[in-house]
Amino acid sequence: MWVSSLVSILPLVVFAFALPSKDCEHQVKEEVVSPQGWTIFGPAPSDHFINLRIALPQSNFDLLEQHLYEISDPYHERYGAHLTKEEVEDLVAPHPDSVVAVNEWLSSHGIQEEDISRSSAGDWITIKVPVWLVEKMLDTKYYVWKHSTSGEYIVRTTSYSLPKDILDHVELIQPTTMFGTFKRLKSTIHSISQTNSQVQSQNQPPVSDPVTGLTVDASCNTTITITCLQQIYNAVGYTPSAHVGNSVGISGYLGDFANKADLQSFFEDQVPAAAAVNATYNFVSVAGGLDSQDPADASDESDLDTQFAFGLSFPVKSTFFSTAGSPPFDPDVKTPTDTNEPYTDWLDFMLSHPNPPLTISTSYGDDEQTVPESFAIRACAEFAALGARGVSLVFSSGDGGVGDGDSNPTTQKCITNDGKNRTQFIPEFPASCPFVTAVGGTSLFPEQGVFFSGGGFSNYFPRPSYQDAAVQGFLNKLRKGTYSGLFNPNGRAIPDVATQSEFFRVFIGGVPFHVAGTSAASPTFAGFVTLLNDARLKKGLPPLGFLNPLLYSKAASGFNDITVGNNPGCGTEGFNATVGWDAVTGLGT
Ligand SMILES: *[C@@H]1O[C@H](CO)[C@@H](O)[C@H](O)[C@H]1NC(C)=O
Ligand SMILES: *[C@@H]1O[C@H](CO)[C@@H](O)[C@H](O)[C@H]1NC(C)=O
Ligand SMILES: *[C@@H]1O[C@H](CO)[C@@H](O)[C@H](O)[C@H]1NC(C)=O
Ligand SMILES: *[C@@H]1O[C@H](CO)[C@@H](O)[C@H](O)[C@H]1NC(C)=O
Repeated sequence: MWVSSLVSILPLVVFAFALPSKDCEHQVKEEVVSPQGWTIFGPAPSDHFINLRIALPQSNFDLLEQHLYEISDPYHERYGAHLTKEEVEDLVAPHPDSVVAVNEWLSSHGIQEEDISRSSAGDWITIKVPVWLVEKMLDTKYYVWKHSTSGEYIVRTTSYSLPKDILDHVELIQPTTMFGTFKRLKSTIHSISQTNSQVQSQNQPPVSDPVTGLTVDASCNTTITITCLQQIYNAVGYTPSAHVGNSVGISGYLGDFANKADLQSFFEDQVPAAAAVNATYNFVSVAGGLDSQDPADASDESDLDTQFAFGLSFPVKSTFFSTAGSPPFDPDVKTPTDTNEPYTDWLDFMLSHPNPPLTISTSYGDDEQTVPESFAIRACAEFAALGARGVSLVFSSGDGGVGDGDSNPTTQKCITNDGKNRTQFIPEFPASCPFVTAVGGTSLFPEQGVFFSGGGFSNYFPRPSYQDAAVQGFLNKLRKGTYSGLFNPNGRAIPDVATQSEFFRVFIGGVPFHVAGTSAASPTFAGFVTLLNDARLKKGLPPLGFLNPLLYSKAASGFNDITVGNNPGCGTEGFNATVGWDAVTGLGT
């Protein structure tokens, strides 16, 4: 079993004919200080295979960014003139010198073109190589690391080097220093509880909000349905079209399966028009992601996301993308394992897709600091590339307020992993990437910011100019010295917007549950973006694409400003919802 799978992965003959590698001086490319929570378990087996991903620098990212801002600015003459796949690929393609230099380096280690797989734009190279060879190539030593609380094992190194002459032709290589394993990529569900088979009728009159003039069923304070969301967000009676080229997608990770029978139960409960035609979604597997339809395998996360995003946008074309998680490394089993993280697989797939969905919601994230900065910057650049093609990317802002857990040294969730052990607010990535829209949470009607709503400031990404006025206004209102040293006031601020996020009535394994979390907010916001795209497409206008420059300018007045609530975390009361943008509910709902 071992031998045959090994041979099928990479012919060993390649190494037998390996040329002697150029004896060029190596220089450290990247280093991590103390991977918090991880300890060395032992040396990595030299014949363990690693799926090594090499990112070549994108030659013209600055230009791509400039295009993106122009076509996303509602006051710019190019607004909505999204780029084609080929135009984006030309901008992110590596410089030919980088391609040649890296090819020569790989070839000096006996790796030939047929062993290499390249992303659509050529900016990522993937090779399957044994540890002994990677160690030689990167002048490093790999170890098996064990996580102190989860007991999980990974194969990593704390530092890697490259020959001087290719140092600038490589942006990053993983898996090397990535200790925030994406196996722990967190679904942003805050809580889940079984509920009644019927929505409780409150025997109470509907409630009106004097500020917005909207009237909402009293039951919406304790159970959120599609009807509630249409009432709260002023979309009652709006019917989108299935025939104007609109589309919406949900991404699922870690073997979270969406269940089609659950979707049908949900439609019967809340979207009769969809139930009447047995509406369903397209399933697409990314990098081997599976699709179990066993009710026992139904995932709360994927059921929530598909039911609300697709329920709000029915009959728009809907797709569920299931991305395989990384199989864990088992030090006792001698089989090759992938030590991939799923974002690159997902991004590879979407960027090579001729027609990705116009709106995509993702209810997963990780503490920003557990994602290496170089990797976060590169993944964020690729979210920008999708935005430039007209895709609206929507992410949950996280469920830990200003930081998951507290500053208690045993949980260490708000302790920096830079070796200094400082207490710091911890934002979520990818929400902290300035090229995606981060969605926080509210509850009740009239709406309030909900305590778990992820909010704060990136320690990696500077504040984008589209946020300057809104965020500076918020910072000016903070009492001088508030949380000084706990957050980066010059960082990209999250969330951008918010929606309801508690008491969502979801069918899981045939049974209705109440689900809470910004996991509910992201697909809800995506559902409404899909309706807005419908309105534009019906008028012959292009889809919205990257949303934020629009949200912070022309569209800002369209939000309900949420001014009640705060988001405690890291042993503090967190930030307050206030008039204007705030770090609990963003611009509002
Ligand atoms: C929801 O609850 C709040 C306070 O708990 C109350 O002020 C509001 O009127 C309720 N809304 C509805 C729709 O019943
Ligand atoms: C929907 O599915 C049900 C049960 O499988 C079936 O009885 C019904 O005919 C279907 N309706 C339509 C419109 O396809
Ligand atoms: C930080 O915490 C780690 C593990 O808890 C400990 O080993 C290290 O000595 C601490 N460093 C400092 C500077 O306190
Ligand atoms: C939040 O509001 C409360 C009550 O007004 C106030 O005491 C507190 O200082 C505010 N917190 C921040 C971070 O502004």
